[in-house]
Amino acid sequence: VKKIAVFTSGGDSPGMNAAIRAVVRTANHFDIDCYGVWEGYNGLIKGEFIKMGARSVKNIINRGGTILKSARSQEFRTKEGRQKAYDNCLKEGIDALVCIGGDGTFTGATIFNEEFGIKTIGIPGTIDNDIFGSDNTVGYDTALNTAMDAIDKIRDTATSHNRVFFVEVMGRDAGFIALNSGIAVGALDIIIPETRDSIEDLFETFNKAQKSGKSSSIIVVAEDEKLGSIYSLAEATKAKFPHYDIRVAILGHIQRGGSPSCADRVLASRLGYGAVIGLMDGKTNVMAGLQANKLVFTPFREAIKKHNTIDEDLLKISEILAI
Ligand code: F6P
Repeated sequence: VKKIAVFTSGGDSPGMNAAIRAVVRTANHFDIDCYGVWEGYNGLIKGEFIKMGARSVKNIINRGGTILKSARSQEFRTKEGRQKAYDNCLKEGIDALVCIGGDGTFTGATIFNEEFGIKTIGIPGTIDNDIFGSDNTVGYDTALNTAMDAIDKIRDTATSHNRVFFVEVMGRDAGFIALNSGIAVGALDIIIPETRDSIEDLFETFNKAQKSGKSSSIIVVAEDEKLGSIYSLAEATKAKFPHYDIRVAILGHIQRGGSPSCADRVLASRLGYGAVIGLMDGKTNVMAGLQANKLVFTPFREAIKKHNTIDEDLLKISEILAI
C-alpha cells in the first residue's frame, strides 16, 4: 500500500482520536501517504480528503470525540453514493481505507470492498462493545467509567432521600455497559436485553431488598431492554410498592464524550498500529482487534454478525453481591 485514507463513522467514541493518531503516525513511519476523510462516508462521497502527517495529530490523544468528525451516512447506503465515493478514491489514488467505527461502518466497508475491490480494514470504535473479534472496543472503557461516575453521584442523592432510582445507560441492543457499570456501582438489579428477566423478578428483588433493610436502591437499565420503557418499569414498580419514592435518570450522550481512559488510549494505539500493519501484510475486509491481549484480525462479516457474549459469571456475581 502506498496511499491510505482514514475516517471515523457512526456514533463517535472516546479514543477515536488516539486511533487516528496511531494510524497516521504508523503510516508515516512506513512511508505510506495518509489522508484523513472528513465526516465518515460523507467525506468519501464529497471528496473531502485532508493530507495528514505526524504533526497533524499532535495533542489529540487525550481528546474525546473525533477531529475528523463522524456521520451515519444515508447516501453511502445507495449504489450511486458508493460509486461517487469510489470515483473520489480513484482520483486521489487511495489504495486502502482504514475505517474506525461500529457495525454500520463495517457493513458499509464490506459492501464497498465487494463492489469495487478497494482494500478496507477496520478498528472497532464504539462505546457499545457490541463487536465480535475484540475483547473491548475503543471507547467502551471510558463510557463505563463515565456511567459509573454519574451513577455514583446519583447514589449520593438516592441515599440521602431513601429513593429508588432507575438509571438508563446506552449500549443499543447490547447490555455490556449496563452489566459492568451496574456491578461497579453496586446496583440492586441490572436489566439487560440478553436475559429474560420478568417484572416479577424485579419485584422479587425489591422484596428481598426490603427484608434485608435496604432504604435506597439503584436499578441500572440498558436502553434496549425488553421489559418496556424505563418509565413504564418505574410506574409498574410504583404501583406495586406505593411507598417507594422513585426517580428516573437517563444518562444519554454524556456516555459518548470525555477524555479517553488510559485503557482506551492504549487499545486505540495498538489497533491503529495493527490496522496499518495488517494492510501492509495484504489483509483486507477484516477488523483489527485485541483478544486475550493479542492482535487478531476478524473478517468484517463475522465481527458484525456475532456479539461478544454476556459473561454468565458476571450475571451471577451481580445477583449475589447486590443484596
Ligand atoms: O452506538 C453508540 C450509541 O451511543 C448507542 O449506544 C446509542 O443507541 C446510539 O449510539 C445513539 O445514537 P445517536 O447518537 O445517533 O442518537
